[in-house]
Amino acid sequence: MPSSPEPSPRVGVLAPPNDPDADVYAAALERAGAEVVRLWFRAVPERLALTVDLDDVRLGDRSLGGLRGLLVRKLYFSFPPAHLADVEERNGRTLRARFVAARERASLVRTALLELERRGTTVVNPPDRVLRHTEKLDQAMQLHRAGLPVPPSLGTSDPGAVRAFFAAHQDAGVIYKPLSGGGQAALLTPADLDEVRLAQLQNAPVLFQRRIPGPEWRVYVVNGHVVAAAELDTTDVIDARDNLASATPVAVDETTGQLCTKAVAHLGLLYAACDVRQSPDGPVLLEVNPAPAIRFYPAPVQDAVTAALTRLLLGGAA
Ligand SMILES: Nc1ncnc2c1ncn2[C@@H]1O[C@H](COP(=O)(O)OP(=O)(O)O)[C@@H](O)[C@H]1O
Ligand SMILES: [Mg+2]
Repeated sequence: MPSSPEPSPRVGVLAPPNDPDADVYAAALERAGAEVVRLWFRAVPERLALTVDLDDVRLGDRSLGGLRGLLVRKLYFSFPPAHLADVEERNGRTLRARFVAARERASLVRTALLELERRGTTVVNPPDRVLRHTEKLDQAMQLHRAGLPVPPSLGTSDPGAVRAFFAAHQDAGVIYKPLSGGGQAALLTPADLDEVRLAQLQNAPVLFQRRIPGPEWRVYVVNGHVVAAAELDTTDVIDARDNLASATPVAVDETTGQLCTKAVAHLGLLYAACDVRQSPDGPVLLEVNPAPAIRFYPAPVQDAVTAALTRLLLGGAA
């Protein structure tokens, strides 16, 4: 009697339903023979039950216990909540009740993800490391302490500190951007230094960095190895993402490659994309992304990245 075929390995992709990057990753996993389980915790608990006990993790009526791998594209949970909707949409009459509900929810979701990892699922990347991506200055500090080149950086709500930083880096210019990411980088101008504008720092501190000149590379590292990279032309833009159409595959030299693999290892990431400026003084790390987008980059980059990532998520079985 013929033996029954091996069941397809199941791999979870944690992302909103309309995430085109998740579609790219999922398609590559399916091509490699995986059964892709799309997961999204936003509906928990109002419209979807999440259950964790000593033996299993279940989302709705589906067991997640046997997942071979789990790719974390977006988390949409944290405490304190990263999204206003995460408080607004909780059941509860008062803001306080909803806030408490968001905390309870974050606690169970985090436990579920940590438990999957303990049960042997390759979680890429572990939730705590993905959540720390909102601490962009802290990441730069960690990399700096590890001896890796990052831009001179300042996080502050003090107008005097901003004026002094601007004066010290006037030759190159100063970039400002959100401390927790998710915004556009802009160039600080002398007009930004007026009292009224800088008084806005009392509403929220900001991240300032020396502007690093040169083309920008996006270097993808999977399981300790550089697998592909693209170069972006930065001639007429501050934020290289305004020039994504210029992305071209680039061969990574040894210095840049080592810089990226060291940074990614130091941050404990299995998969990451490094934003690197190729300055006249050598490569400088702008940031390391633990849940990177992929669809904006050329097909050979996408293919190399998704192939390596698929192997990682399938535990070498692909
Ligand atoms: N210090 C800097 N020097 C030059 N360009 C920068 C600097 N910081 C940010 N940029 C530009 O802005 C873009 C976005 O900044 P980044 O730190 O990667 O944050 P995020 O991608 O999370 O918004 C970078 O890809 C780069 O093109
Ligand atoms: Mg970036």
